[in-house]
Amino acid sequence: MIRIPRGTQDILPEDSSKWRYIENQLDKLMKLYNYKEIRTPIFESTDLFARGVGDSTDVVQKEMYTFKDKGDRSITLRPEGTAAVVRSYIENKMQGIPNQPVKLYYNGPMFRYERKQKGRYRQFTQFGVEAIGAENPSMDAEVLAMVMHIYESFGLKHLKLVINSIGDADSRKEYNEALIRHFEPVIDTFCDDCKSRLHTNPMRILDCKIDRDKEAVKNAPRITDYLNDDSKAYFNEVKTHLDDLGISYVEDPNLVRGLDYYTHTAFELMMDNPNYDGAITTLCGGGRYNGLLELLDGPNQTGIGFALSIERLLLALEEEGIELDVEDTFDLFIVTMGEEAERYSVKLLNQLRKSGIKADKDYLQRKVKGQMKQADRLNAQYTVVIGDQELENEVIDVKDMSTGETETINLNNLVNYFQEKIINKKENINE
Ligand code: HAM
Repeated sequence: MIRIPRGTQDILPEDSSKWRYIENQLDKLMKLYNYKEIRTPIFESTDLFARGVGDSTDVVQKEMYTFKDKGDRSITLRPEGTAAVVRSYIENKMQGIPNQPVKLYYNGPMFRYERKQKGRYRQFTQFGVEAIGAENPSMDAEVLAMVMHIYESFGLKHLKLVINSIGDADSRKEYNEALIRHFEPVIDTFCDDCKSRLHTNPMRILDCKIDRDKEAVKNAPRITDYLNDDSKAYFNEVKTHLDDLGISYVEDPNLVRGLDYYTHTAFELMMDNPNYDGAITTLCGGGRYNGLLELLDGPNQTGIGFALSIERLLLALEEEGIELDVEDTFDLFIVTMGEEAERYSVKLLNQLRKSGIKADKDYLQRKVKGQMKQADRLNAQYTVVIGDQELENEVIDVKDMSTGETETINLNNLVNYFQEKIINKKENINE
């Protein structure tokens, strides 16, 4: 038997309605913040991620699905969205459009070859935003406020926002030198990755999955002690905005994030539920990336963004016992008796559906009792029974399944009747 690939999942109908609900909610929130949707390809040139995310990151070195296409090009299934959105921004010269800064969001599958765990998949769905073209602490504050708004809008309460600044390029240069001095004497006790990254990218040692808990990592120099005045001032302004907004956060000087493009503000939102027993607690991560556009041969513009996975959002909802208000109603089930009624119901269903009414019938020659059970299973609000007699008299009883009441309607008037009852009622509710 062929099975689903490790680390992937089927989203079955009982769950896909939750996904749709979440995605609709996210779309609505994006409108409030004036972000517009962008869709980029699922695969890109491998170089984009090697350069953009960073050659010496775990994502690029170990986790990418990379292959040669038939034209001998190296292609990679996207492991994240930022590099791709920035590529598109540059390629489409978005710095020239009147509406600035350019505020974009995306939602789609990402691929990382990682060890499968609760909350960690090899194909996962990232919803992310990127705001490009404004280097302003209030832009950072907007993005952080949005993160909190998203999670709180689903009713989640056990959340912890962790922030840090990893400064500008100058601060990072000094910091990297300090890290090299710190780790050099003990590097022999570290894994091969850390050894090879000591001189190329020493910050990666701080979030190495193998050596993360070593003493030398715990007492390593902290970026906050190496921030220059500009970087400190920028970070202080971001924090002032967060205080003004009443957003609580904790500062963690060890938060360096696993991708190379970050500068200044970096953050993660963690699940902070005391009863949660899983190892994965990060719901969402992001930060500012001031050098990324130029690194990808783009204009001198800066950006900030974040991404979350819908899988982990669902996990957090489950852990907090939150049920989404997913609509699960069905309008009408037609019960048929006899061949004539069967034939008539095919035509009637077609008319009903084209008028916007959710309707279905039996296809398995069930007896009337079985058809009624099917109506129940579908949670149909109304049922009608059509037999020879109804066809002859051209009248039909419409049964309201919640009250058990019936109403007799002219058969030719049935579509109008349901339009009135169902469509108009919905419109009234939506008003
Ligand atoms: P990231 O921290 O690598 O950042 O991923 C962001 C989020 O994607 C994580 O917090 C988590 O919710 C989800 N995620 C990552 N890997 C997996 C996985 N294997 N299974 C399930 N969920 C996962 C980025 O990708 C950056 N592009 C975020 C960003 C946007 N920074 C600036 N703009």
